[in-house]
Amino acid sequence: MIVSAKDSRPLPLLAGNVRVIIEPDSEAASRRAARFVAALVRKKPHCVLGLATGSTPLAVYRELIRMHKDEGLDFSQVTTFNLDEYVGLSSIHPQSYRQFMQLNLFDHINIDPTNTNVPDGRALDFEAHCRQYEQRIHDSGGIDLQILGIGSDGHIAFNEPGSSLGSRTRLKTLTSETIRDNARFFGGVEKVPHLAVTMGVGTILESRRCLLLAFGGHKAEAIQKTIEGPVTAQVTASALQLHREVVAILDEAAASLLVRRDYYAEVERAQSLLEAGQERHLGIANQ
Ligand code: PGA
Repeated sequence: MIVSAKDSRPLPLLAGNVRVIIEPDSEAASRRAARFVAALVRKKPHCVLGLATGSTPLAVYRELIRMHKDEGLDFSQVTTFNLDEYVGLSSIHPQSYRQFMQLNLFDHINIDPTNTNVPDGRALDFEAHCRQYEQRIHDSGGIDLQILGIGSDGHIAFNEPGSSLGSRTRLKTLTSETIRDNARFFGGVEKVPHLAVTMGVGTILESRRCLLLAFGGHKAEAIQKTIEGPVTAQVTASALQLHREVVAILDEAAASLLVRRDYYAEVERAQSLLEAGQERHLGIANQ
C-alpha cells in the first residue's frame, strides 16, 4: 500500500494482474529488481524470500550483496526457499543449485545458513522430501516474495509445458529444450540431469508476491505468451495471470513482442505520479 504524500490516506495501487516494468537493459532491470527485494527486507526483516537460479537473477544477487556490504542490508532474520534442484547432484556438486546459491549469494551476506532451504537432489524418499518442503514453506508463514526466471519454453521453476497449474513440489522430467538450454553450464547435453525436484505452479501461486524477471530477445516470445496469451498449462508462467500481485521486470529485448506495451508504460507513469504524491494529476482529489 502507498499513502498520500500530504496526509496518511491510502492511495490505490495501480497494479492489475501483471505489472510490467520495462528497463533499457538487464543491468538496470536487475538493479530495479534488487530494490524491490531490499525494500521488503527492510520493511519486514524476518521475511521469507523465494529464490531462483540460472543466469537471470545473477546481477540481482550481485546488487543485493553490494547493498549488504555498502548499505548494511541485513539478512540475519531472512528465510529463503529455492524453487528447484537437479536430481542426482549432491549439494556440493558445482552445478547443483545449492552450490549456485552459496557462491552467488549466501556466502556473501549475513544470512543464517539454517534459514536457507534448497530441495535435496539426493533425497532418499522424494515423495516425503517434497511433502516436507511444502510443509516447511507453510510453517515459515509462506513466501512473501518469489523471484522467478522464465524458460524459453515458458516454464517457471522446472514446471515444464503440460505441468498442472495446481501442481505442488514434486519430481519433474526436464524437456529436451530445457536440457539444451542448460547444457552450457554442464559442458554438454549428455551431462545435464534429466529430472529435477521443483516447486509446483500451485506452490508458486501461493506466494504473496511474484517478481518475474526476463532479459534478452530469446525470452521475448515466452514473455508475450505469459503476459498476453491465454492461461495454459502449455506455458506454465501464464498461470501468473491468476495471481494478484505479479511484477514483471523486463529489459527492452524481452519486452519486444509485447502488444500492449504502451499501456504498460501508461500504468507505470500513473504509478510514479502516485508514489511522488502527484495524485491530483490523476484526478484523485486532494482533501
Ligand atoms: P535462465 O533460466 O535464467 O538461465 O535463462 C531461466 C529458467 O530456465 O527458468
